[in-house]
Amino acid sequence: MPTDKKLNSDRDKYYELFENATIGISITDHHGLLLDLNQAIITMTGYSREELLKMKVSQLIHPDDLEKSRLYFDSIIQKGYRDTYRGRMLRKNGEVIWVDVHPEIMKGNNDKISETRYYIQDITDLVKAQKAQIEHDKTLRILEEQDLYGVAIIQDGKFKYLNQVVASMYESSIEDIISMKPYEYREKIHPDDIPIFIEKFSERKLSKTKNQAIHMQYRLKLSDGKNKWLDQYFKPIVYEGKKAYFATAIDISERITREKEIEKAFYGIVTALSITAGLRDPYTAGHQSRVADLSRAIAIKMNLTKEKVDIIRWAAKIHDLGKITIPAEILTKPSKLLDAEFNLIKGHAATGYDILKDIEFPWPIADIVHQHHERIDGTGYPCRLVDSAILLESKIIAVADTVEAMTTDRPYRPGLGIDKALDEIQKNQGYDKTVVGACMEVFRDGFKFKGASNN
Ligand SMILES: [Fe+2]
Repeated sequence: MPTDKKLNSDRDKYYELFENATIGISITDHHGLLLDLNQAIITMTGYSREELLKMKVSQLIHPDDLEKSRLYFDSIIQKGYRDTYRGRMLRKNGEVIWVDVHPEIMKGNNDKISETRYYIQDITDLVKAQKAQIEHDKTLRILEEQDLYGVAIIQDGKFKYLNQVVASMYESSIEDIISMKPYEYREKIHPDDIPIFIEKFSERKLSKTKNQAIHMQYRLKLSDGKNKWLDQYFKPIVYEGKKAYFATAIDISERITREKEIEKAFYGIVTALSITAGLRDPYTAGHQSRVADLSRAIAIKMNLTKEKVDIIRWAAKIHDLGKITIPAEILTKPSKLLDAEFNLIKGHAATGYDILKDIEFPWPIADIVHQHHERIDGTGYPCRLVDSAILLESKIIAVADTVEAMTTDRPYRPGLGIDKALDEIQKNQGYDKTVVGACMEVFRDGFKFKGASNN
């Protein structure tokens, strides 16, 4: 038989276990009034022990869960159903917590409930994490199921995640792409577009763009020999604790094809205009094309964008369009022009502008044509504009125009040769120095006018 002393010591030990348990334990009488509870219940509910000992357990249940909890306890009592109850409790400060409750019903001699013991576990963090996981899964499913945007996470040059759209773009499966090495994707990219990647992801460029998304358009090579144009954004993110990129891609092949067709049609119209201008004057015909070629080469040398290069080429191709209103005898006159005749010729810049100004080009082609005889020192025509007031495109055409005109034969003199022409643009203060420098380089690199032998 244990002694009283031993019994007291055991009771103290078990009470200490009860009091310090991390799980909440409470005991209620058959009315649901709280008879005893441990520290974990106090922490969980935010009420003091004194307050709790005056409360019924139902006062701790979230009002919306009262019915559910009642049905649960009825089933325990009637059917002995013992699954864990999961529901919400209300803390003293109104905060909602999620709990798992394991009840244990104690019965007296007459089979009536004497007390109920509750083992309560706060699972709020777990429920929150599960909810977040469900939301996360939903988001991922949306990303995976939509079939418009390719979505991927790229880290250390490898795909960490991608949806089916990306897999289809690469004509491969998600699994195959995940297991690919960086050089294997590289083989899928059009070789002409690899420099875009190298440039955009260079240390120098990244230090400038910082956390901004990197935007680019490039081509993937398809197995049928065609290209797929992608418009892609790479947004720097942190993924699994390391730097990565969240990439979105959309197939713009159709749009690019349409744009190319429009561009072709546009260039066809410009060429038709150019030919029209040259019909009455053989010098103008070839002159515009050659000026367009040299202007384009200068623009490329100046590192202008592809769009700017195209605008300059098109504008150059019709820069003398206004000459169609000048009598052919004046244009092809083999002797020196009279002042009146020269003034008539000078009018071609403004006439070209008048013809083009009402056409809704997406670029200022009419203005470029208008200004191609302006000079940066203000000695040009028709508006005597100075340096910053003159469009860069016009400054480039002005240099190309002079060089071409001086090197080819004219009705009144033979061609003067490329050296004289380059000498002139360097000495004359009317030409933009940067443009002249680029033009010199173009010729140093071996530029030759098409079909011309005297340069
Ligand atoms: Fe001209």
